[in-house]
Amino acid sequence: MNKISLPAFFLLMLLFSYSHSRAQTQVVTAGKVNTVSISGQQVKIKTENAYAEITIYSPAVIRVRMDKKPLSADFSYAVTTDPQTIKAQITQNNSEISIVTDSLRMHIRKNPFAISFFSPSGEVINEDEPGLTTSWIGDEVTTYKKMQEQERFIGLGEKTGNLDRKGEGYTNWNSDVFGYATNKDPIYATIPFYIGIHHHLNYGIFFDNSYQSDFNFGASNNRFSSFGARGGEMNYYFIYHPQMADIIKSYTSLTGRMPLPPLWSLGYQQNRYSYYPDTEVLRIAQTLREKKIPADGITLDIHYMDAYKLFTWNKERFPNPQQLTNRLREMGFRVTVIVDPGIKVENGYAAYESGKKENIFLQYSDGENYTGQVWPGWCHFPDFTSSKGRSWWKEQVKSYIRDGVSGIWNDMNEIATWGQKMPNNVIFNFEGHPTTHLQGHNIYGLQMARASYEGAREALQKRPFLLTRAAYAGSQRYSALWTGDNRAEEDHMLLGVRLLNSLGLSGFPFTGMDIGGFTGNPTVSLYTRWMQIGAFIPYFRNHTGVNTKSAEPWAFGEEALEITRNYINLRYRLLPYLYSTMYESSRIGIPVVRTLAINNTFDANVYDTRFQQQYQFGPAFMVAPFESTKEFGSIYFPKGKWYNLYTDAISNGQQEVITPLSIKTLPVYVKGSSIIPMQSLIQSTHEKPSDTLFLHLYKGDEANSFVYYEDDGESFSYEKGGYYERAITYDPAAGKLTLSKVTGSYTSQFKYIRLILHGFDSNQRISVNGSSVSVSTSPFSFLSPISRFDPQGSFIPAESCTIQQATFANSNEFINVGL
Ligand code: GLC
Repeated sequence: MNKISLPAFFLLMLLFSYSHSRAQTQVVTAGKVNTVSISGQQVKIKTENAYAEITIYSPAVIRVRMDKKPLSADFSYAVTTDPQTIKAQITQNNSEISIVTDSLRMHIRKNPFAISFFSPSGEVINEDEPGLTTSWIGDEVTTYKKMQEQERFIGLGEKTGNLDRKGEGYTNWNSDVFGYATNKDPIYATIPFYIGIHHHLNYGIFFDNSYQSDFNFGASNNRFSSFGARGGEMNYYFIYHPQMADIIKSYTSLTGRMPLPPLWSLGYQQNRYSYYPDTEVLRIAQTLREKKIPADGITLDIHYMDAYKLFTWNKERFPNPQQLTNRLREMGFRVTVIVDPGIKVENGYAAYESGKKENIFLQYSDGENYTGQVWPGWCHFPDFTSSKGRSWWKEQVKSYIRDGVSGIWNDMNEIATWGQKMPNNVIFNFEGHPTTHLQGHNIYGLQMARASYEGAREALQKRPFLLTRAAYAGSQRYSALWTGDNRAEEDHMLLGVRLLNSLGLSGFPFTGMDIGGFTGNPTVSLYTRWMQIGAFIPYFRNHTGVNTKSAEPWAFGEEALEITRNYINLRYRLLPYLYSTMYESSRIGIPVVRTLAINNTFDANVYDTRFQQQYQFGPAFMVAPFESTKEFGSIYFPKGKWYNLYTDAISNGQQEVITPLSIKTLPVYVKGSSIIPMQSLIQSTHEKPSDTLFLHLYKGDEANSFVYYEDDGESFSYEKGGYYERAITYDPAAGKLTLSKVTGSYTSQFKYIRLILHGFDSNQRISVNGSSVSVSTSPFSFLSPISRFDPQGSFIPAESCTIQQATFANSNEFINVGL
């Protein structure tokens, strides 16, 4: 070995630390392009200081990867698709490289390297801030985009704040935030996808990097928007479509879509932290039935376990779990149990012993298992980023399914540990590419949900229900998500709506929040309003914390009970509509809870903080949530014609209307031309509705269509054709409603269709397949009058024309209704 003298050694050390600190303090940009190689749909570029790779994924999606060192092997937990083969022109001259697809143009300036995207007609959609472009400070990489005039930013998943995020900055680092404030950031999930809007253009950017990431939408600066991460590559997908809905479709074609959930999971779910012992669980279930509150789910929180030890039951509280789940099933209830990732360190505890033996726990860099504290005390944590860890977990989860459980609720998977500082030298396997906590952290919740989903699905051989708190982009492929430990406060209810709106934009259609609030006790009116909203969100669960008052629908007095029941009833009658809408989400990624920005992207009013909570529940309904204490509220009606759900009164679009508010009703409107399938009231999805499908049609000016979808609600046979699907199309110009032929081999549970027409003239002649039919005029109400509190009935039922059911015998052929 060569010897160096002591002074020389010190000099070297000095030089090393100097250059190291220079690297930390200097901003290194990509610099000038030196070499370019074009191959098929990919361009590889070497610049002065960086390596870049541009890949065309589809005419509308272009991926940009950059690093200071040669790009490493490609790997993503979020993206599941490969580039499509498409026609594109890639050319270059001395000053730029140009990529042209059918949907957009991309220019890469050569000196210095900078990227711009243009619409086919040449408008700037998005461009690197020309002076700042992409740069590094040490390992931190950031891309700066020029702030366009009046640019807005929406999305980024579960983020607090306003719908329009302009002027704000956000960090992604999945965090356990008990009772979080309404402006807290970060909270539980990382979905680094946002949509920018300006000059009648909109685009999406998905930054696929799981290190702690930061997004700046003009916070503390007026020059740029930016996204960057504390490590890893610059790795983003640029998406351009004229319509926002198509951007969401493209984003979800990259990161995947929700599997169709079991029908029961769309019913009402009752929960608290915690119902025990088993007799208490049965009492709750029985009371729901006695009080005629429809419900499908009961969820067991951590007290079902023996000393919070995963995969165990507390023998005193739950001596016979199978008997309990069977009994509940007979009553029409499914059971979901909570699972936390922490496995208690305790000799003789089966999960601990087997996890240790199979060596599946996260370890420090020196190979010792990492130990952190959660509910059970000191714990080890399975490494869900290794297939070995996931396989182990999958086998454990199956024990719940054997005990008759139907749903798995993944909690504390940020990872939450007391102290909230998992050390960065904990190593994650990352599918055989070991990395530190810095890169593994934000992925953990995604991979836990995946392992739980796969285990439950294998054991159940039916669709399992999965819920998760932490997430990364792509978690929608496995699980529903709820927004964690909110508070029983008015502004939290409204924040919850915004979180769900934002999650919907960001690929998550199956979402919910703790209805009624997790910490604290809601007032009677807050509880009532929140339950009303709950009927119009996909995952409808009432949950509350350990030290709070009872929060079942009967705990707030008779009036609240009646109102709440009314809305849960409505939810159950709407299940054919909701299920069809969930099916659409599972196919194309369009959410169920839709911020008005999706369909009214360039209407400034929808971003107004007074209206930003308003949302569409599927294609037909617009919900306007207000604090329960308000007596009047301003509602913005976007373009179109809107019917009051309860009275059929019409409001024209593009106007603001001040409306009196009552706790008895949630302001809900139906868009003209809507088609809404409904069923008779049932007490759980276990019960069959009557054999009539109630099809509501709202007179409108625009053509519209709705895809009605039905299957057995629980198996995977729909994947092999076991479904019933038919498009229902309304063409007002031709005065026609058409039910297309049925596709799929499933027999609908409905034999008859009753058509209920809203806004039509009752003297109008109506024909079905050419023969005129008689129409009866009768009042129709979506809600029952609240008997004792409002003997007159608080709703003026809509006068609607009804076509008798007998005319629609179960025909799978075309049905044409002349209107
Ligand atoms: C976490 C969850 C909450 C649950 C509690 C006990 O705080 O977010 O929903 O009730 O843990 O398991």
